[in-house]
Amino acid sequence: MNGTPEALLVRPAARLRGGPALPGDKSISHRALLLALLAEGESTIAAAGDGEDVRSTAGVCRALGAIVERVAERNGRVDYRVVSPGGANLREPEGILDCGNSGTTTRLVAGMLAGRNLFAVLDGDASLRKRPMGRVVEPLGRMGAAFSGRRNDTLLPLAIRGRERLAPITYTTPVPSAQIKSSIMLAALSADGESVITETVATRDHTERMLRARGIAVHETLAEDGTHTIRLAGPALPAAIAETVPSDPSGAAFWLVAGAIHPDAELRLVAVSTNPTRRAVIDILRRMGASIEELDLPVRGGRDGEPLADLVVRSSALRGVDITPVDVAAAIDEVPVLCLAAAMAEGVTTIRGAGELRHKESDRIAGIADGLTALGADIRVTGDDIEIHGGRPLTGAVTETLDDHRLAMTFAIAGLVAKGETTVLRPGSAAISYPGFFQVLEGVRA
Ligand code: S3P
Repeated sequence: MNGTPEALLVRPAARLRGGPALPGDKSISHRALLLALLAEGESTIAAAGDGEDVRSTAGVCRALGAIVERVAERNGRVDYRVVSPGGANLREPEGILDCGNSGTTTRLVAGMLAGRNLFAVLDGDASLRKRPMGRVVEPLGRMGAAFSGRRNDTLLPLAIRGRERLAPITYTTPVPSAQIKSSIMLAALSADGESVITETVATRDHTERMLRARGIAVHETLAEDGTHTIRLAGPALPAAIAETVPSDPSGAAFWLVAGAIHPDAELRLVAVSTNPTRRAVIDILRRMGASIEELDLPVRGGRDGEPLADLVVRSSALRGVDITPVDVAAAIDEVPVLCLAAAMAEGVTTIRGAGELRHKESDRIAGIADGLTALGADIRVTGDDIEIHGGRPLTGAVTETLDDHRLAMTFAIAGLVAKGETTVLRPGSAAISYPGFFQVLEGVRA
């Protein structure tokens, strides 16, 4: 992240007002690009996220033979036009595929390339090279793709030798993960017959919705115990369509927490996805006592489109709650900023079964505990459980982001309510998912 400062000073805000510009949803933007690559012909993607992760996916699509044009840019969002030779005619990339910091890019591209007759090598930055890839290599290997990588084929750089036709798979994901599920679904498009993918907790369902919107039959069942099963038959390729990306609920989460914990706040967040598999952060904050108004908007794209709403958050008196392992899976990216909300709430918040947070862009359990402790919060970690004794006033301090975008943004939001000055070390990672975040932060200071 050249040209960004080594540290950013955040001073408390007297009031928070306005409508902070939000990024396009990162998960949907990645998928829209990859499905446009698989679809022969011209696709358009309006208002996509323009963070570095989505740019990594755009770069991979170009390396595999698509024309990916940036047609317009505004407020940290980009309109893309993609013209692709289609999944059956991808180009074997000449060099490595650089996935940057993006786990979603890596795992979804691995699934997509498992079923393409070409050789490719995936690589990324120092953080991505530490993240577990065995969780996709194992099922994709069973389907017939060959992988070779560091540490017994579980770490990047990872070489893939794909095959035009794969065997279908019946598989239960070992941890709730939309990345693993989606990776297998993209491979299942190249399988001869029906694949059945089960997850014990339903994770974000964008791949399911977006494949259906592109003409592919994806059957889902949700059992009473919460088990979610997907059936998908190959071979099939998605059709080229026009997509408009909603605002990212994971980006909106920073402002939902800022508005709720600040004593004089009213913030409006426009056209946010309230997809049932993404909205847990709204519901958890409401359980904590947050005042969040939800004004539903018409759904774009019919039955498979994303439900949307404008959200208005106001200063709230929060109280501690229990956050269960199912909540953690549903709000996986929002747990760090929810820890800040918990630190500002009266009483105790417990977060159970948060182990997956250790496998994100950083060990987010350690990172959030260290940063909030530096700011004066009482946060205790036992194994994969977190206990926060809220209600202690925060005082500005130096916070270490570990180059993790969600930690950088969480500590900057803390700086709006902490006494004195908060230093956010190496804040540039915010641009991974939320370009312009710090300008937006200055803009909401009424
Ligand atoms: C994502 C899934 C989540 C999430 C990530 C984006 C996706 O990861 O943390 O930011 O787009 O599928 P896991 O499903 O691996 O937990």
